[in-house]
Amino acid sequence: MATASHQDPGLVADGVARFVPPDVDPSTLPPSFALVEPLPALGAVPDSWRTVPQFDRTVDGLVAIIPIDAGTSLYGTGEVAGPLLRNGFVTECWAKQPFRIEDDGSVVPHYDERSKSLYQAHPWVLAVRGDGSAFGVLADTTYRLGIDLRDGIRLTCAQPFPVIVIEGASPQDVVRRLADLTGRIELPPHWALGYHQCRFSYYPDGRVRSLAREFRKRAIPCDVIWIDIHYMDEYKVFTFDPERFPDPDGTNDYLHELGFKSVWILDPAVKAEAGYSVYDEGVSEGHFLHDAEGHEHRESTWPGEAALPDYTRPETRAWWARHTTEFLEHGMDGVWVDLNEPSPILPLGAELPEDLQHRGGNGLAPGSHAQYHNVYGLLMAKATEEAMRASRPERRPFVLSRSSYLGGQRYAATWTGDNVSSWQHLQWSVPMVLNLGLSGQPFCGPDIGGFAGTPSPALFAHWISVGAFLPFCRTHNSLAGDQEPWSFGAAVEEVSRHALERRYRLLPYLYTAFHEAATKGLPVARPVFFADPADLSLRDEDHSFLLGGDVLVQPRLLDTGAHDFRVSRGAWRPFSLAREDSVSDPAHPVLRLRDGAIVPVGPGGQTAEEAFAGPLILLVSLDATGKALGRLYEDAGDGFGYREGQYLLTTYQAVLKDGVVEVSIAAREGRRTRPVRALDVEVLTDDGSRHAKGTEGETISLPFEQ
Ligand code: GLC
Repeated sequence: MATASHQDPGLVADGVARFVPPDVDPSTLPPSFALVEPLPALGAVPDSWRTVPQFDRTVDGLVAIIPIDAGTSLYGTGEVAGPLLRNGFVTECWAKQPFRIEDDGSVVPHYDERSKSLYQAHPWVLAVRGDGSAFGVLADTTYRLGIDLRDGIRLTCAQPFPVIVIEGASPQDVVRRLADLTGRIELPPHWALGYHQCRFSYYPDGRVRSLAREFRKRAIPCDVIWIDIHYMDEYKVFTFDPERFPDPDGTNDYLHELGFKSVWILDPAVKAEAGYSVYDEGVSEGHFLHDAEGHEHRESTWPGEAALPDYTRPETRAWWARHTTEFLEHGMDGVWVDLNEPSPILPLGAELPEDLQHRGGNGLAPGSHAQYHNVYGLLMAKATEEAMRASRPERRPFVLSRSSYLGGQRYAATWTGDNVSSWQHLQWSVPMVLNLGLSGQPFCGPDIGGFAGTPSPALFAHWISVGAFLPFCRTHNSLAGDQEPWSFGAAVEEVSRHALERRYRLLPYLYTAFHEAATKGLPVARPVFFADPADLSLRDEDHSFLLGGDVLVQPRLLDTGAHDFRVSRGAWRPFSLAREDSVSDPAHPVLRLRDGAIVPVGPGGQTAEEAFAGPLILLVSLDATGKALGRLYEDAGDGFGYREGQYLLTTYQAVLKDGVVEVSIAAREGRRTRPVRALDVEVLTDDGSRHAKGTEGETISLPFEQ
């Protein structure tokens, strides 16, 4: 029989309550990894509180049951393949490398909508009621957690856990409050919003250099070249292969000269080899995980037999950070932390024994791997990010992490792991990014083109054209065929160039959306139902998506049958970017502007630096009352001057009166000097658009007959 929950401490913030199972003493619960800080006790939960979990004990452990009303749509649950709408799905919070056994017995990385868990763990469900109001349920535990959404919300865990319920007037409200509790991203540097080119792996150094030259020669926008594991000496972390990368400083200098940044990979596993200084230190200083008998645990991964750092120990995080700092002295701009579920490679899909011992420290109790498994990746990302911040206080850190946990957005961006070059995976990349965003992680994207396998030219063309509008935009592939924008012939190269030009022209708007994510916790890519949460017909729309609040992106995917575009209330006028009128390849998503919105569009360029300098166009779509508003956030694009007021947050307004549209600044914030630049206005109408030229800071008038 289910029993009523213990209301201690009860209300913890306005609209947020914590429920503890009745037979559990709250002081015995482990500290939260999801929350930025412990929750205060504000008193009892009011009688009017709508969503009260019922706790039950079963053979599987503690169960929290949260019934839902008919018409309630469920989302979130972090990184999950399959559709956006999660009603009917059963998943498990247990970070792992998903895999499939082929007919010939071989094991390959693979996931699909039946995969119960992927690389990350987000014990979080967002529920949107029929009337558009919403609530969220956070199971505040790091242990393995079952999430069953077949009949309401049913959460099961072998260990006791509290449930935090967030109530909100809208899904946006709940997601914002989730970010208040679990943290927001740091504002990324401009370059991180550009296009990233990766593969497993670009080597040797000469190939990296020619790749960089090729991008510039072909005039395809690109900001970042990624260096995967083949740079290491026998895959030993913090080393360089003397033949392939004899001079990593030189490699980075070369990339920098051509206007690129570089991101290099680090895996957690340390090759167990006496004489390798990182391993020797790890042994003598006690940094590695031990089994229940106290022996060093070994797993089989890229370098062969390897030991794993115990990132729950503050001393181990400091040791990792020291090595990362030395590594960064070679001139890397960002760090990619991988395989940090942690995942052994041999056999693929193997898991670490749950009775491995973590030693903790500094307020963190010693505990088993069952307790700390799900936060292994988060702790590795935290140690890496802190090293970046401490060693380069004047630069914004950039870390990409494969594994993470609810709240992990505080330390790293993420991607959707080893996907497959298929139309289905391209289609899933949109709902995967959306559900991660609804789970607190706005900075994410798929491997464009797919990691496993080689895409057809049409698939790559579509993928890069859709991926250009997702928050993290990186092509990556495995050891299979080439996957550069020019690898599929001249036509696909042109589509790719154009897709990236579109992204680069939208960067001022995209950066403003990232600023909203960093300050308010709203996702960058948002589900279409955000435009009208009470419209039930939008609840399962996961083909199209919103970028920020004002741009609707409508992919036109082949082979998925998804061709009908649903647009919520309003005009949502189509608009074009860069050379678009002359390029009508169906790979490019249709872009639409919310009526009542103003979107700033920049000049584009080969790098983000270029794309943020120069003239601006304000795209305006008037609402039925003849008004529109839009915001532009600007700062130096790196560093932390914005924290001392060195930024500009401008609200532009457009008002139609007496046959004239007047565009002016309605509000401004920040002390950054307003750039002197041309500021053109383009007002969208139902049959084309009208233009006017002007200068930043002055009111621009445009004759406008309806
Ligand atoms: C893992 C990563 C993949 C990377 C590879 C080699 O499979 O998910 O992105 O390329 O390891 O480091």
